[in-house]
Amino acid sequence: MLFPDYRPRRLRKNEAFRSLIRETRLSPSQLIYPLFIIPGKNKREEITSMPGVHRVTVDLLEKEAEECLKLGINGVILFGLPDKKDGMGSGAHKKDGIIQTAIKELKKNTPDLLVITDVCLCEYTDHGHCGCIINREVDNDATLEILAKTALSHAQAGADMVAPSDMMDGRVGEIRMTLDENSFDHIPIMSYAVKYASSFYGPFREAADCVPQFGDRRSYQMDPANSREALREATLDVEEGADILMVKPAVAYLDIISKLRDEFDLPIAAYHVSGEYAMIKAAAEKGWIDGERVMAETLLSIRRAGADIIITYFAKEMAKLLKNSR
Ligand code: PBG
Repeated sequence: MLFPDYRPRRLRKNEAFRSLIRETRLSPSQLIYPLFIIPGKNKREEITSMPGVHRVTVDLLEKEAEECLKLGINGVILFGLPDKKDGMGSGAHKKDGIIQTAIKELKKNTPDLLVITDVCLCEYTDHGHCGCIINREVDNDATLEILAKTALSHAQAGADMVAPSDMMDGRVGEIRMTLDENSFDHIPIMSYAVKYASSFYGPFREAADCVPQFGDRRSYQMDPANSREALREATLDVEEGADILMVKPAVAYLDIISKLRDEFDLPIAAYHVSGEYAMIKAAAEKGWIDGERVMAETLLSIRRAGADIIITYFAKEMAKLLKNSR
């Protein structure tokens, strides 16, 4: 006997066999599409470093939302570019702010689409940091109140879920308490529980105009070298009331996704971030890789690592591909 009894190739013979034993699948319903919203009317501008991704005005949101629903994508996450910024990021919780207006517009026209909001101050502060600055430092506890106010304003406008991405200590608990006190106990929190101080956010910071004007985010976002610390961060967020745990970025942190999957029973989300998207797009444009196949393989790897939900700029493209290959 030259071979062992088990021959793995038996079940790889054709697509029918392969698909029969496939362990991981990707469905449009697992994808969340990020939307960048700008002030003004009838504007749709492509983001240079993110080909295929646009910043749009509120009046064009209905079209975006309908396209998502038609493709089977159930949720979007919103990022706003306000017309004015200040030191405290007060535009983040304005009743008629850019995000609050966008939420209302979306819920009015496409009520079935889940509207998730990114809760952070960096797009609204003139210094570009995710919290308010006291003595040239991002002050944790002073920021908490502003974040909670922001999350509440999103819920009041009709958001289905809030997603704090600021990485201040204790923000999930503070947001949970404020939502509960205001009768929004039914609104879930998807926490950016494990968010690394990553260089993969470059294109996003250009898109959302939130480059820090001094220093960097390493005093609040996690050190890419740390893995055990991810479990501590996630544990804290679970104790504070998070409903979904997110890991960000995704591909360079598949080990972290897998670890969280093993340790927690909450749904896990992964954010395939702007730089991860841009790299695939750039190499594909040069003809060095097959962009579509690398996209599919990449998103599948994030699912295989253990993510239930993927936030990705590829959401529409991937959903189209899934639809056509059915
Ligand atoms: C806001 C925020 C960022 C991203 C999502 N929310 C930027 C940052 O933390 O610097 C990055 C998303 C991406 O790169 O696609 N804090």
